Amino acid sequence: MTAQLNPRGDVAVLVPAAGAGVRLGPGRPKALRLLAGEPLLVHAVRRLAAAPSVHTIVVAAPPAEVQAVRELLAPVAPVIVVPGGAERQASVAAALAAVPAGPTIVLVHDAARALTPPELVESVAAAVRGGRDAVIPVLPVVDTIKEVGADEVVLGTVDRSALRAVQTPQGFRRAVLSAAHAAAGDSLTDDAGLVEKQGVAVSCVPGSEYAVKITRPFDLALAEHLLAAAG
Ligand code: C5P
Repeated sequence: MTAQLNPRGDVAVLVPAAGAGVRLGPGRPKALRLLAGEPLLVHAVRRLAAAPSVHTIVVAAPPAEVQAVRELLAPVAPVIVVPGGAERQASVAAALAAVPAGPTIVLVHDAARALTPPELVESVAAAVRGGRDAVIPVLPVVDTIKEVGADEVVLGTVDRSALRAVQTPQGFRRAVLSAAHAAAGDSLTDDAGLVEKQGVAVSCVPGSEYAVKITRPFDLALAEHLLAAAG
């Protein structure tokens, strides 16, 4: 099977899925934990593959699970699977290196955001296509945020109106992401942070409540409910 979805698509999606998922408790690597009987990664890839602009999906799998992940995803969608690295950034870099010629837009999407709707993939890609160098989906911050000292004493209250919670997929012109990774120094938890360091403007589009990052057991339970409610 060719690892290509829509041959006319202009988007490659990188899926770092090599994390251990320690905060979910003991068990398999996080991307392979089950949600409604299927691994998180299967849910995520199925939704990415349903986005019409997607040409290629590259998954960075736990190195010991590369063959298992290939077999797992073969019935879901044509994907390229590469071994991930010790840090998320290294996993993204490994996936980026495997993108074939063609796509001019690269999205980076955490497998842990397993219920992200294809519409969000399209809206991030459309903003890059429309001329933005880097695009992130965001939600307003609903809680009051305090800055706290080492002794758990409040230092101050942060102005919430200027804050956004950032999701994935994060989208980039391919050359912008490649340059940021080539220049990368310290490891960061998101790719927009890398391009910010290069002085590139990062634009926001509205995120989705369904793009919640499944990190703790509570998030897994919430995702089960969302899936059940969606029928
Ligand atoms: O650990 P965290 O939840 O921030 O991980 C975000 C995403 O990065 C997850 O999908 C995880 O599988 C991935 N990751 C990776 N390689 C690592 C660490 C995390 O692909 N070494």
